[in-house]
Amino acid sequence: MGGKELRRIVFSEQEISRRVRDMGREIAAAYPPQDELLVLGLLKGSFIFIADLVRQIPRPLHVDFLVVSSYGAGTVSSGEVRLVYDAKAELAGRHVLLVEDIIDSGTTINRLVPVLEERGPKSLEVCALLHKRVAPYLVKEPRWVGFEAPKEFLIGYGLDYSEHYRNLPYIASL
Ligand code: IMP
Ligand code: MG
Repeated sequence: MGGKELRRIVFSEQEISRRVRDMGREIAAAYPPQDELLVLGLLKGSFIFIADLVRQIPRPLHVDFLVVSSYGAGTVSSGEVRLVYDAKAELAGRHVLLVEDIIDSGTTINRLVPVLEERGPKSLEVCALLHKRVAPYLVKEPRWVGFEAPKEFLIGYGLDYSEHYRNLPYIASL
C-alpha cells in the first residue's frame, strides 16, 4: 500500500491523545470566555486533529474549514499554495485559531496568514500539531505546537503520503 514501508512509530495514539487534551485546555484558558472563538481547520491533513482538539476545548466555539493544496503527489512541496476552498465564516472581529497539521517549509502559513489578517480578525493565532523547525522564516510562529517533529516525512493521524495512511491512529515516519 502506497509503495513504501512504514519505518517506525514516532508518536503513539496515547501520546497524541494526552498532548491534544493538554493543548485543548491551554487554548480554552487563553481566550476570554465571553469572546467568540472560531477554529479554522486547514484541510485535509488536520481533519483528525481538529476533530480531537475541539472536543478538548471546554468553551463555546465555532468550526470552519479551509482547503489549500501545496503538495502534488509526493513528499516534496511544490512551493505553490492554492486556496481550493474558502471558509464561509466571517473572520472580522473574532478570535481566529488556524489549525495546521504540520509546519514544514512554512510556505502554507506564510501565504495564508496575510490573507486571513486582511479580513480583520480580533486575533489570529496558529496551532500546529507538528513543527519540523526547518522553515527559514515564518510570518507568524505558532502559539501552540503539539510536538517537535523529526525532519522526516510523517504519515498517519490525518497526514498522508499521496493520500495513503491518513487513517492510521498514530504518527509514523516513512
Ligand atoms: P509547508 O507549507 O511546507 O509548511 O507544509 C505544510 C503542509 O505540507 C502540511 O499542511 C502538510 O499537509 C504537508 N506536509 C508537510 N510535511 C509533511 C509530512 O512530513 N508528512 C505529510 N504531509 C506533510
Ligand atoms: Mg498533505
